[in-house]
Amino acid sequence: MKPKVLITRKIAEPIIEKIQEYADVDVWDQEDVQIPRDILENKISEIDGLFCLITESIDASLIDKAPNLKVISNMAVGYNNIDVDTATKKGIMVTNTPEVLTETTADLTFALLMATARRLVEASDFLRDGKWETWSPNLLTGQDIYGATIGIIGMGRIGEAVARRTKGFNMNLLYHNRSRKPDVEQELGTTYVSMETLLSESDFVVVITPYTAETKNLITAEQLKLMKKNAILINTARGGIVNEADLYEALVNGVIWGAGLDVFEKEPVPADHPLLTLPNVVTLPHIGSASIATRMKMAELAAENLILALKGEKPKHLVNKIDFS
Ligand code: DGY
Repeated sequence: MKPKVLITRKIAEPIIEKIQEYADVDVWDQEDVQIPRDILENKISEIDGLFCLITESIDASLIDKAPNLKVISNMAVGYNNIDVDTATKKGIMVTNTPEVLTETTADLTFALLMATARRLVEASDFLRDGKWETWSPNLLTGQDIYGATIGIIGMGRIGEAVARRTKGFNMNLLYHNRSRKPDVEQELGTTYVSMETLLSESDFVVVITPYTAETKNLITAEQLKLMKKNAILINTARGGIVNEADLYEALVNGVIWGAGLDVFEKEPVPADHPLLTLPNVVTLPHIGSASIATRMKMAELAAENLILALKGEKPKHLVNKIDFS
């Protein structure tokens, strides 16, 4: 008998067909609607494999309802939506999709940095709203990127890819990370500094670190206060890393100059969220990895991880820190 798999969102048909070669597949096939929790709770009791997205909270109470579950395959590099400890205790493999989205997410990070510094969204709205009357010396002036100092918090794969992009802009590159990366320092001429130094010396502070208990609220009023008045904060990691209420206050009171946010503490962010009312904030709906090709690669890799795990083999990207053999 084939194992049973649930896919929590509509994905490309060829990928579903590939999984169907090994499993009986049930797809929550509404493209832009999240699977309701009660349906997920119901279905999880029957399945051997789960293909899910960051929108699903795979917590202990859900995992407890899944006696047959062998693998949770997340179509994302981040897996803070999954209780990995509980899964590990129950012998359930957890997998993710690193590498394939690195460059795409770094592209978006840099695009967001540029859009925020040069006020692209504000400028485009200004023009479309028929407000453009004349070229003017101080009209929509922003911050220079070329030659500025950038501080990257989190020098993982995506942090490194962002760092590489700064070279074309002749930027002075600082970084802070859990551990030093001598190879990266050598290759990219970046300097490891304390959080305090990074915050106080950077014109751009880019947050691209995983969301963990240690990085929750990593940036609060205390850290924002250390930043330059002309500084811009970019977050393409996870919302909870930056305290949103503190960021709002800092932006309103001119503690920092602007922010570019692709992620929010609660997603989707409510349309009346205070941060969305500020002209000096560029906001995006968590689209870091959203290129057509990359989303396809992520789905393919998540499927591959799932199938390998169901076959009893080692998935390409196992998150649990134990040996399942
Ligand atoms: C991830 O992969 O963790 C992103 O946030 C979604 O691509």
